[in-house]
Amino acid sequence: MNIRKLIAGNWKMNGTVAVLSEIETIAAGTPDSVDVAICPPFTLIAPASGRGVPIGAQDCHSASTGAHTGCVSVAMLKEAGATLCIVGHSERRADNFETDSDVRAKAEAAQAGGLIAIVCVGETLKQRDAGEAISVVQGQLAGSLPENRDGLVVAYEPVWAIGTGRTPTTGDVADMHAAIRAVVGPAVRILYGGSVKPSNAAELLAVPNVDGALVGGASLTAADFLPIVAAA
Ligand code: G3H
Repeated sequence: MNIRKLIAGNWKMNGTVAVLSEIETIAAGTPDSVDVAICPPFTLIAPASGRGVPIGAQDCHSASTGAHTGCVSVAMLKEAGATLCIVGHSERRADNFETDSDVRAKAEAAQAGGLIAIVCVGETLKQRDAGEAISVVQGQLAGSLPENRDGLVVAYEPVWAIGTGRTPTTGDVADMHAAIRAVVGPAVRILYGGSVKPSNAAELLAVPNVDGALVGGASLTAADFLPIVAAA
Protein backbone atom coordinates (compact mmCIF):
# COMPACT_ATOMS: atom_id res chain seq x y z
CA MET A 1 0.00 0.00 0.00
CA ASN A 2 1.34 3.42 -0.95
CA ILE A 3 1.15 5.69 2.09
CA ARG A 4 1.99 9.41 1.87
CA LYS A 5 4.93 10.22 4.07
CA LEU A 6 4.45 12.41 7.15
CA ILE A 7 7.34 14.35 8.65
CA ALA A 8 6.24 15.58 12.07
CA GLY A 9 8.31 17.86 14.28
CA ASN A 10 8.17 17.59 18.06
CA TRP A 11 9.54 20.78 19.54
CA LYS A 12 9.32 19.35 23.09
CA MET A 13 9.88 22.18 25.63
CA ASN A 14 11.50 24.51 23.11
CA GLY A 15 10.38 27.55 21.18
CA THR A 16 8.92 30.99 21.70
CA VAL A 17 6.63 33.21 19.64
CA ALA A 18 9.78 34.76 18.19
CA VAL A 19 10.70 31.56 16.29
CA LEU A 20 7.26 30.84 14.79
CA SER A 21 8.36 32.30 11.47
CA GLU A 22 10.24 29.00 11.04
CA ILE A 23 6.83 27.41 10.46
CA GLU A 24 6.07 29.72 7.55
CA THR A 25 9.46 28.87 6.05
CA ILE A 26 8.66 25.17 6.46
CA ALA A 27 5.26 25.67 4.79
CA ALA A 28 6.84 27.47 1.85
CA GLY A 29 9.50 24.79 1.38
CA THR A 30 7.33 21.69 1.67
CA PRO A 31 6.44 19.93 -1.61
CA ASP A 32 2.83 18.87 -2.24
CA SER A 33 3.88 15.23 -2.17
CA VAL A 34 4.72 15.20 1.56
CA ASP A 35 2.66 15.87 4.70
CA VAL A 36 4.27 17.82 7.52
CA ALA A 37 3.19 18.84 11.01
CA ILE A 38 4.76 20.70 13.90
CA CYS A 39 3.98 19.97 17.56
CA PRO A 40 5.08 22.95 19.65
CA PRO A 41 4.51 23.45 23.40
CA PHE A 42 0.88 24.04 24.43
CA THR A 43 1.38 27.80 24.71
CA LEU A 44 2.43 28.07 21.07
CA ILE A 45 -0.38 26.02 19.52
CA ALA A 46 -2.67 28.99 18.95
CA PRO A 47 -0.05 31.41 17.63
CA ALA A 48 1.52 28.62 15.50
CA SER A 49 -1.80 27.83 13.83
CA GLY A 50 -2.74 29.39 10.50
CA ARG A 51 0.86 29.55 9.27
CA GLY A 52 0.45 26.87 6.59
CA VAL A 53 1.52 23.77 8.57
CA PRO A 54 -0.83 21.50 10.55
CA ILE A 55 -0.16 21.95 14.26
CA GLY A 56 -0.21 19.21 16.87
CA ALA A 57 0.01 18.92 20.64
CA GLN A 58 2.57 16.84 22.52
CA ASP A 59 0.06 15.38 24.98
CA CYS A 60 -3.57 15.59 26.06
CA HIS A 61 -5.65 14.52 29.03
CA SER A 62 -8.08 11.65 28.53
CA ALA A 63 -10.88 13.46 30.38
CA SER A 64 -12.91 16.21 28.78
CA THR A 65 -13.01 18.52 31.83
CA GLY A 66 -12.35 18.37 35.53
CA ALA A 67 -9.95 18.86 38.40
CA HIS A 68 -6.69 18.03 36.59
CA THR A 69 -4.32 20.87 37.42
CA GLY A 70 -1.84 21.63 34.69
CA CYS A 71 -3.54 19.42 32.10
CA VAL A 72 -5.18 20.25 28.78
CA SER A 73 -8.20 18.57 27.18
CA VAL A 74 -8.64 17.57 23.56
CA ALA A 75 -11.39 20.15 23.07
CA MET A 76 -9.03 22.86 24.36
CA LEU A 77 -6.34 21.73 21.93
CA LYS A 78 -8.80 21.76 19.04
CA GLU A 79 -10.02 25.20 19.96
CA ALA A 80 -6.41 26.41 19.98
CA GLY A 81 -5.93 25.05 16.46
CA ALA A 82 -4.40 21.61 16.90
CA THR A 83 -5.30 18.85 14.46
CA LEU A 84 -2.94 16.16 15.78
CA CYS A 85 -1.77 14.96 19.17
CA ILE A 86 1.28 12.93 20.19
CA VAL A 87 0.52 10.49 23.01
CA GLY A 88 2.76 8.13 24.93
CA HIS A 89 6.08 9.75 24.09
CA SER A 90 8.80 7.95 26.05
CA GLU A 91 9.64 11.18 27.89
CA ARG A 92 6.07 11.29 29.19
CA ARG A 93 6.03 7.55 29.94
CA ALA A 94 9.25 8.03 31.96
CA ASP A 95 8.78 11.49 33.51
CA ASN A 96 5.04 11.28 34.15
CA PHE A 97 4.73 7.54 34.76
CA GLU A 98 2.23 7.11 31.91
CA THR A 99 1.20 3.49 31.43
CA ASP A 100 0.04 1.77 28.25
CA SER A 101 -3.56 2.06 29.41
CA ASP A 102 -3.11 5.80 30.10
CA VAL A 103 -1.74 6.16 26.58
CA ARG A 104 -4.65 4.24 25.06
CA ALA A 105 -7.16 6.42 26.94
CA LYS A 106 -5.44 9.54 25.64
CA ALA A 107 -5.37 8.19 22.08
CA GLU A 108 -9.07 7.34 22.28
CA ALA A 109 -9.87 10.80 23.64
CA ALA A 110 -7.84 12.44 20.88
CA GLN A 111 -9.65 10.43 18.21
CA ALA A 112 -13.07 11.01 19.74
CA GLY A 113 -12.36 14.75 19.72
CA GLY A 114 -11.31 14.73 16.09
CA LEU A 115 -7.52 14.83 16.46
CA ILE A 116 -5.10 12.50 14.68
CA ALA A 117 -3.37 10.48 17.38
CA ILE A 118 0.36 9.74 17.06
CA VAL A 119 1.01 6.88 19.48
CA CYS A 120 4.67 6.46 20.46
CA VAL A 121 6.34 3.16 21.32
CA GLY A 122 9.96 2.10 21.69
CA GLU A 123 12.36 0.01 23.70
CA THR A 124 15.20 1.00 26.05
CA LEU A 125 18.80 0.07 25.32
CA LYS A 126 18.70 -2.54 28.06
CA GLN A 127 15.68 -4.15 26.43
CA ARG A 128 17.33 -4.10 22.98
CA ASP A 129 20.55 -5.56 24.34
CA ALA A 130 18.51 -8.32 25.96
CA GLY A 131 16.96 -9.18 22.59
CA GLU A 132 13.55 -7.99 23.77
CA ALA A 133 13.03 -4.97 21.49
CA ILE A 134 10.31 -6.43 19.29
CA SER A 135 8.43 -8.15 22.10
CA VAL A 136 8.52 -4.97 24.22
CA VAL A 137 7.13 -2.88 21.36
CA GLN A 138 4.48 -5.51 20.58
CA GLY A 139 3.43 -5.32 24.22
CA GLN A 140 3.24 -1.53 24.09
CA LEU A 141 1.14 -1.72 20.93
CA ALA A 142 -1.22 -4.24 22.50
CA GLY A 143 -1.69 -1.99 25.52
CA SER A 144 -1.58 1.47 23.96
CA LEU A 145 -3.34 1.37 20.61
CA PRO A 146 -6.98 2.37 20.29
CA GLU A 147 -9.34 -0.02 18.50
CA ASN A 148 -10.11 2.58 15.87
CA ARG A 149 -7.26 2.63 13.37
CA ASP A 150 -8.75 5.33 11.11
CA GLY A 151 -6.10 8.00 10.61
CA LEU A 152 -3.99 6.50 13.37
CA VAL A 153 -0.24 7.11 13.34
CA VAL A 154 2.30 5.00 15.25
CA ALA A 155 5.78 6.37 15.97
CA TYR A 156 8.55 3.89 16.72
CA GLU A 157 11.15 5.69 18.78
CA PRO A 158 13.88 3.60 20.40
CA VAL A 159 14.46 5.41 23.70
CA TRP A 160 18.23 5.10 23.37
CA ALA A 161 18.19 6.87 19.98
CA ILE A 162 16.32 9.97 21.17
CA GLY A 163 18.58 13.00 21.31
CA THR A 164 21.72 10.85 21.35
CA GLY A 165 22.85 10.99 17.73
CA ARG A 166 22.62 7.19 17.64
CA THR A 167 20.23 5.31 15.37
CA PRO A 168 19.42 1.64 14.88
CA THR A 169 20.73 -0.05 11.75
CA THR A 170 18.40 0.13 8.79
CA GLY A 171 18.00 -3.63 9.17
CA ASP A 172 16.82 -3.23 12.75
CA VAL A 173 14.43 -0.45 11.71
CA ALA A 174 13.09 -2.67 8.91
CA ASP A 175 12.55 -5.58 11.29
CA MET A 176 10.77 -3.42 13.87
CA HIS A 177 8.56 -1.64 11.34
CA ALA A 178 7.60 -4.97 9.76
CA ALA A 179 6.64 -6.25 13.20
CA ILE A 180 4.56 -3.12 13.83
CA ARG A 181 2.96 -3.40 10.37
CA ALA A 182 1.90 -6.95 11.19
CA VAL A 183 -0.03 -5.59 14.18
CA VAL A 184 -1.53 -2.39 12.76
CA GLY A 185 -2.39 -3.41 9.22
CA PRO A 186 -1.67 -1.79 5.86
CA ALA A 187 -3.20 1.67 6.28
CA VAL A 188 -1.65 2.96 9.51
CA ARG A 189 1.32 5.29 9.12
CA ILE A 190 4.41 4.11 10.97
CA LEU A 191 6.95 6.86 11.67
CA TYR A 192 10.53 6.36 12.79
CA GLY A 193 11.88 8.75 15.44
CA GLY A 194 15.21 9.12 17.19
CA SER A 195 18.12 11.29 16.01
CA VAL A 196 16.67 11.83 12.52
CA LYS A 197 18.69 14.57 10.83
CA PRO A 198 19.42 15.79 7.30
CA SER A 199 22.40 13.43 6.95
CA ASN A 200 20.52 10.21 7.76
CA ALA A 201 16.94 11.00 6.71
CA ALA A 202 17.08 9.60 3.19
CA GLU A 203 18.49 6.29 4.39
CA LEU A 204 15.93 5.90 7.19
CA LEU A 205 12.97 7.04 5.08
CA ALA A 206 13.84 4.48 2.37
CA VAL A 207 13.41 1.56 4.77
CA PRO A 208 10.29 -0.52 3.98
CA ASN A 209 7.30 0.37 6.18
CA VAL A 210 8.84 3.68 7.27
CA ASP A 211 6.05 6.10 6.39
CA GLY A 212 7.71 9.20 7.75
CA ALA A 213 9.59 10.55 10.74
CA LEU A 214 8.98 12.08 14.14
CA VAL A 215 11.77 14.60 14.47
CA GLY A 216 12.88 16.28 17.69
CA GLY A 217 15.99 18.47 17.68
CA ALA A 218 16.18 18.79 13.91
CA SER A 219 12.62 20.14 13.72
CA LEU A 220 13.44 23.37 15.54
CA THR A 221 14.69 25.20 12.46
CA ALA A 222 13.52 25.13 8.87
CA ALA A 223 17.17 24.82 7.83
CA ASP A 224 17.38 21.38 9.45
CA PHE A 225 13.76 20.28 8.96
CA LEU A 226 13.31 21.01 5.26
CA PRO A 227 16.13 18.71 4.07
CA ILE A 228 14.43 15.91 6.01
CA VAL A 229 11.13 16.76 4.32
CA ALA A 230 12.91 16.79 0.96
CA ALA A 231 14.28 13.30 1.66
CA ALA A 232 10.75 11.89 2.16
O1 G3H B 1 9.67 13.06 19.30
C1 G3H B 1 10.80 13.09 18.82
C2 G3H B 1 11.83 12.21 19.28
O2 G3H B 1 11.87 12.08 20.65
C3 G3H B 1 13.16 12.32 18.61
O3 G3H B 1 13.96 13.34 19.14
O4 G3H B 1 15.09 13.77 16.97
O5 G3H B 1 15.85 14.92 19.06
O6 G3H B 1 16.25 12.47 18.72
P1 G3H B 1 15.37 13.65 18.44
